[in-house]
Amino acid sequence: MTLARADILRWLTVPDAEPLFAKARAVRARTKGRGVCLRGLVELASVCDRDCLYCGMRHANTAARRYAMRDDEIVACARLAGDLRFGTVVLQAGECPALWTRERVAVLIRRIRAETGQHITLSLGERSEADTAAWREAGAERYLLRFETTDRALFAHIHPGAPRDGEHPRLAQLRRMKAQGYAIGAGMMLGLPGQTLASVADDLLTLRDLRADMVGLGPYLRHPGTPLGQETTPSEVPVSVDFTCRCYALARLLLPNANIPSTTALSTLDPRHGRLRGLNAGANVFMPNLTPAAYRDGYQIYPDKICVIAPQADSLDTLHADLASLGLHHFQDQ
Ligand code: 5AD
Repeated sequence: MTLARADILRWLTVPDAEPLFAKARAVRARTKGRGVCLRGLVELASVCDRDCLYCGMRHANTAARRYAMRDDEIVACARLAGDLRFGTVVLQAGECPALWTRERVAVLIRRIRAETGQHITLSLGERSEADTAAWREAGAERYLLRFETTDRALFAHIHPGAPRDGEHPRLAQLRRMKAQGYAIGAGMMLGLPGQTLASVADDLLTLRDLRADMVGLGPYLRHPGTPLGQETTPSEVPVSVDFTCRCYALARLLLPNANIPSTTALSTLDPRHGRLRGLNAGANVFMPNLTPAAYRDGYQIYPDKICVIAPQADSLDTLHADLASLGLHHFQDQ
C-alpha cells in the first residue's frame, strides 16, 4: 500500500482513528487470517553494561535488582514454551557481552533447538557482526533490536556514547543482520521527551525501508530511577494506548506481512484492554512472559511492568477467551 508521509501524519492526529484500525484489520485478515502467534518471552538477565537514560536496568541504577539465569533454567523455559504450543522463544537480556559470550549463546541456541525444537528469537542488544553470524549459524532465526528513534539528536541524547552522525548504529546492525539471513524486528518508543510527530512518521517509514519482518513498538514509560524519568521536556507524542494503536495500524499498512506484537508496555498502560486494543489495531502476535517467577520482578525496564500472563492454564484460558472475543485464535507457528 502506498502511504505517504502526509497520510501518516494525518492518521497520527485525526480525532478518530477507528477507520484506520479497520483498514489494518482488513490487511491482517488478508495476510494472517485469524491466527495470533504466541511467543514465550524469557528475560535471561537484568545485568546491563549500558546507561540508556530511559531504562531502569541501566548500569548506574544501583537500586535495581540484578539476576542472571543459568543455562539449564533457560532451556527449561523453552521446554515450557513447547508444552504451551508456542513455537518460538524470545531470549532477551540487558546488554552484557561478558555474560552472554558468543560461545555461550551459540551453545544455548544449539541446545534449545535440539532439546525443545523451539524457534529462537534473540534480543541481546548491540553486538558485533561476528557474534550475530555465529548465532545465525547455530540456529537463531530472528533478532529484535529497536532503533528507539530515528531522530539522531534524540538518540544520542538518550544513549550515552552513541555517535551523533554517520549511520545510526542500530539501523546499521539491523541491515547487517538482514544480510545474514535473520528475520529482523525493529521499532521505537513513543512519547520520549522532545520526540516529535514528524520523527514518528520517519520511524514508521524507516520500518518499511528496512523491510522489517517484525515490529516492536510501545509507549515510553517513565522510570523514576533514571535521568529521563526526571526530565520535564514535553513530547508532541502522546503516551497512550490509542496513539500506540495508530502506530501498529500504520505499521500493518506499511508492512502487510510483518509480525507485530501487542506489547507488554501497552498492557501496562491498560491491564485489562491494552492487549486487545493492540490486536484490534492490526497486531498479530502476543508475547506471554515465561521468565521464572523468582526472577521476574528483577527485570524492571520501567515501573509496574505487568507480567501479562503467568504460564498457568487459567490465565492462558483468559488469553484464549480474549482472542475468541475478537474472532481470533492461537495459531501455532512452525
Ligand atoms: N519505557 C518503555 N519502554 C522501555 N524500554 C526500555 N526502557 C523503557 C521504558 N522506560 C524498551 C526499549 C527497549 C526494550 C527492550 O524495552 O524500547 O528496546
